[in-house]
Amino acid sequence: MKNPWLQIPACDYEAHMALPEVAQTQALSKLMASVLKEYTPASLAVIGCTTGSGFEHIDHAHTHRAVGVDVNAAYLAVLKERFSDKIPHLELIEADITAPDFEFNPVSMVFAALVFEYVNVEVALGNIARCLAPGAVLVVVLQLPTPESAPVTATRYKSLELLAPILNLVSPSEFSRMCNTFGLQQIKTDSIPLKKGKAFFVGFYRKNTELSVPPDRLRSR
Ligand SMILES: C[S@@+](CC[C@H](N)C(=O)[O-])C[C@H]1O[C@@H](n2cnc3c(N)ncnc32)[C@H](O)[C@@H]1O
Repeated sequence: MKNPWLQIPACDYEAHMALPEVAQTQALSKLMASVLKEYTPASLAVIGCTTGSGFEHIDHAHTHRAVGVDVNAAYLAVLKERFSDKIPHLELIEADITAPDFEFNPVSMVFAALVFEYVNVEVALGNIARCLAPGAVLVVVLQLPTPESAPVTATRYKSLELLAPILNLVSPSEFSRMCNTFGLQQIKTDSIPLKKGKAFFVGFYRKNTELSVPPDRLRSR
């Protein structure tokens, strides 16, 4: 089955997310700004980066390498157009994060907002965990369930309705448990209230540093 994300025009997605009744672009961009300020990662990967919302907060004085990953090449083309002259060392990867060969050189932070809802969580998380350097931080945004509103808010941008059949909300506790199995320890959690009773869960996880040095080298120290 073709990924429905490939059928959603960038302009529909951006307009939908920015509508006052959705207002998720603003919330996610603000979160990215605060996370980058708090951790000043030397390298960053944004998974499900779409057209680069939040990339304006990347300060290349601190973050020397920025990676954007998305399955939709048209989104990445918009991102490139907007940011390639502002962010040196921008790497854009068109890939399915659940593919068996998915990987990129490890980074010190991965930011993944509203993407685990559309994939096999265990497979994607395992792949992403391999792309985190020891001690690196994973920041994840998950959409929380609400009785007041459908997971995809109905707006005039009808193409977004293609997502309903593949959208599965992810339980934060189940996600944290899976993180543990991939050597990612929860540092803290937060929540962001939104319009129409919606809210985001934000989880921060640190990759174990143990075994980052091979055991034989540890013995000789
Ligand atoms: C809800 S959007 C993410 C929101 C975005 N982070 C923002 O700040 O607006 C989900 C993104 O994940 C991408 N995506 C969905 N499934 C994917 C997959 N299997 N591999 C890579 N990217 C995927 C979509 O193309 C889309 O750009």
